[in-house]
Amino acid sequence: MGSLWTRDATYRKSLKEGFRARSAYKLIDINDRFNVIRKTDNVVDLGCAPGSWLQVLKTLTEGQLCGVDLNPIAPLEGVISFIGDFTSPEIQEKVRAAMPVVNVVVCDAAPHLSGAKSYDQARIMALNEDALMFAASLLKQGGNLVMKSFQGADFNELLELVKERFYSVRVIRSKATRRGSTECYIVAKNFIGDARDDRIPVKKEKA
Ligand SMILES: C[S@@+](CC[C@H](N)C(=O)[O-])C[C@H]1O[C@@H](n2cnc3c(N)ncnc32)[C@H](O)[C@@H]1O
Repeated sequence: MGSLWTRDATYRKSLKEGFRARSAYKLIDINDRFNVIRKTDNVVDLGCAPGSWLQVLKTLTEGQLCGVDLNPIAPLEGVISFIGDFTSPEIQEKVRAAMPVVNVVVCDAAPHLSGAKSYDQARIMALNEDALMFAASLLKQGGNLVMKSFQGADFNELLELVKERFYSVRVIRSKATRRGSTECYIVAKNFIGDARDDRIPVKKEKA
């Protein structure tokens, strides 16, 4: 008999199907239900290690993929990857330079948890807000964002920030999430755009 982890049916399935992590099924489930990634989309994956979401993304789009993580990932053909903190200006600049057009941002990142509930929740909310702001600076108008979060203190405030930036926002639980977890995914579609973003055409005043 293996450990609790190795007895996990989803984990065993992911190994059998060649995915690097069981979280692959979360993205498959989300995309099946909400059709977030289109065939030619360029996608940035924040918190991508070990790379199972990138493996799934490769099956969904022929567009350019770029992943960022604090930890290195084993190479995936055609995928650009950066090692570092996606909240740092240096890494953000590298991603921007490598990905001039971004249609979708996915973020499965979570900080290391200390076990102190309110402290961990505050760190999760801060990371989510950073991911949202970075995504908003990358995304093309009409683009989509999928971001892992955890329901708890300040979650509704975070959601308001997302709703200010996307026309359609849903909070969902993936079927692959363990029972009892407060984990959820924010599925935000149709990015409104950022007035400071010079890729968005500005309406000309009539003379
Ligand atoms: C649950 S794992 C992601 C699994 C991934 N979606 C997959 O399917 O392989 C969360 C990842 O977020 C990364 N992470 C957390 N904070 C980060 C940050 N500020 N910058 C970059 N990566 C971060 C962690 O290093 C970790 O590898």
